[in-house]
Amino acid sequence: MRILVTGSAGFIGFHLARRLLGEGHEVVGLDALTPYYDVRLKQQRQALLEAMPGFRAVSGRLEDAGALAAAFADAPEVVVHLAAQAGVRYSIEAPFSYTESNITGTLALLEAVRSRPVKHLLAASSSSVYGMARQASRETDGTDHPVSLYAATKKATEAMTHSYAHLFGIPTTCLRFFTVYGPWGRPDMALFRFTEAIAGGRPIDVYGEGRMRRDFTFVEDTVTAVTRLIGKAPVQGQPVAGDSLSPVAPWRVINIAGGRPVELMRFISAIEAAIGRAAQKNMLPMQAGDVTDTAAEVALLRTLVGDVPETSVEDGVRAFIEWWRGWRGA
Ligand SMILES: NC(=O)c1ccc[n+]([C@@H]2O[C@H](COP(=O)([O-])OP(=O)(O)OC[C@H]3O[C@@H](n4cnc5c(N)ncnc54)[C@H](O)[C@@H]3O)[C@@H](O)[C@H]2O)c1
Repeated sequence: MRILVTGSAGFIGFHLARRLLGEGHEVVGLDALTPYYDVRLKQQRQALLEAMPGFRAVSGRLEDAGALAAAFADAPEVVVHLAAQAGVRYSIEAPFSYTESNITGTLALLEAVRSRPVKHLLAASSSSVYGMARQASRETDGTDHPVSLYAATKKATEAMTHSYAHLFGIPTTCLRFFTVYGPWGRPDMALFRFTEAIAGGRPIDVYGEGRMRRDFTFVEDTVTAVTRLIGKAPVQGQPVAGDSLSPVAPWRVINIAGGRPVELMRFISAIEAAIGRAAQKNMLPMQAGDVTDTAAEVALLRTLVGDVPETSVEDGVRAFIEWWRGWRGA
């Protein structure tokens, strides 16, 4: 199959593109290599993809018509839209980068798909759309009260894709990811920051007194779920059991997670064990925009794609640290 992955030099996009290429698909990867975090990491991921047969990189922004046209030149059958300005906390500092990439950029992509129909559009959303929900979040729960601008732009992604699915019949699945982690991960995320601090003998700031729980999802498990969903485009009016299908459009949202949230302190212990050094912890209250718990109800995911492997945080963190040691030493 010909598949366009936006955000292919990013953390999840890189792993997804690599898996798809390994399965024999042709992949076009669009990415602007934005400087939100160390661009070398994005360049290295992209170089690995470029060394694989079947990959074509397009460098440029979603909002750039020329770059989008180049990305669609091979008439992709499926689009997985992962490019975005990610990160909850940075949305307080740099709000316009979120509206540019996540709203204007997503609209530009939708316009491209409108004129070049695809079998399935899968677009990244986020568990952050659930706001302050404490219980296991189900796809049909209300998401009207985002507590960060990042979450608001992900909610907008869901709403915009729904309108295009309805108006132009684009089968769309919105992927609500829950704290994805693993090798080649993002330097702005807790695992990367904690690892660098602990290994360097510096203290770590533990927000929410360490009692926050996250449905940490190992990146390979995430990619397994996404690749299996590619062939499961929603069909308007034909929901499967438990589906969050729209009443008027071939559109659904789905939680992508293991459904087993873990306390931040267990996550930190896994890092300490993998590095072989105890962390000095600054216990701090919650930060603005953070949510206490993220926990996914994963019945819909199981119905659609069966049991997805669930890597334990201990194994997943160990895999990250092994990669990180090699990357840092390089
Ligand atoms: N990693 C997680 O835990 C997580 C959780 C929830 C949702 N998500 C979402 O999943 C997607 C992938 O996340 P990630 O962790 O791989 O993030 P990432 O930042 O590593 O990857 C995003 C990529 O998009 C590119 N990009 C940003 N704006 C662009 C634009 N306007 N045009 C072209 N390229 C652009 C960046 O250069 C980057 O390589 C994002 O949409 C993110 O919001 C991630």
